[in-house]
Amino acid sequence: MEVDVSNLKVVVTGAASGIGRATALAFVANGANVFAVDVNDAGLAETKAAASGSGSIVTHKADLLNPANCKPVIEAAVAELGGLDALCNIAGVLRIEALEDVTPESWDFIYGVNVRAPFFLSQAAMPHLLKSDGAIVNISSATAFRGYAYVTAYTSSKAAVAHMTKSLQAEVIKSGVRINAIAPGSVNTPMGTGGSGGAMDKFDMDLFVRMMQIRPGSPPEQYTDILLYLVSPQNQIIRGAVLNVDDGMDAT
Ligand SMILES: NC(=O)c1ccc[n+]([C@@H]2O[C@H](COP(=O)([O-])OP(=O)(O)OC[C@H]3O[C@@H](n4cnc5c(N)ncnc54)[C@H](O)[C@@H]3O)[C@@H](O)[C@H]2O)c1
Repeated sequence: MEVDVSNLKVVVTGAASGIGRATALAFVANGANVFAVDVNDAGLAETKAAASGSGSIVTHKADLLNPANCKPVIEAAVAELGGLDALCNIAGVLRIEALEDVTPESWDFIYGVNVRAPFFLSQAAMPHLLKSDGAIVNISSATAFRGYAYVTAYTSSKAAVAHMTKSLQAEVIKSGVRINAIAPGSVNTPMGTGGSGGAMDKFDMDLFVRMMQIRPGSPPEQYTDILLYLVSPQNQIIRGAVLNVDDGMDAT
């Protein structure tokens, strides 16, 4: 089967790095018109410089931690692209912290970027997606479905993303809009291979080691085929799904 995303109008958040960058580049390579959003201007410029193919890319700096920025991002994308076919909510943040170090600020930071931003971007995008029978793809995580020490805010935010995906799909189930999430395992990106952000000497390594999956991490480019398929008009049957794309992490 041929997956055809050519000429689709797509917003990709988190496009300055990792899975978001790989996704933006894959869309451009396959003929889609991408509105690439991130808080990191320099990373966006690198993504734009790396883009090639029959599609196009416009970059847009925005801090999605601030919910007031979500609707303007979608309005800017619609004005630039002339409509909207897909929203890929890929921006995310992780902090690894011992229980006693988690502050209300760090909890709100993680939930603000990982859960609130995709929700309010989806809210703003929905009128346009209802017109185009479009799609949303969110990024959950294999860590959403098991217990992991020192990452309660992150893992529970990713469980919230999984549930948000299903509930939003339920709300528009009578339309042609398709809303799905993928749940990656360990991905070789700055987030997947970066430091803990917390005080490592506080961590019990017997517990910490559970976060390490048996298989090595995967390159972010391995996630783009499934993302493009979920967004493409060829996907009419996968709706409200949270797909494990974790190289077996959830199974072990
Ligand atoms: N790397 C992994 O192992 C892994 C595993 C499962 C799920 N995920 C999820 O995949 C998604 C992409 O992660 P990645 O591994 O590519 O990480 P990454 O750190 O390489 O990229 C995340 C991007 O999000 C952007 N971002 C962060 N806060 C933002 C904000 N306030 N406003 C706008 N942009 C912001 C960053 O600038 C960065 O470009 C995340 O949602 C992450 O939780 C990653």
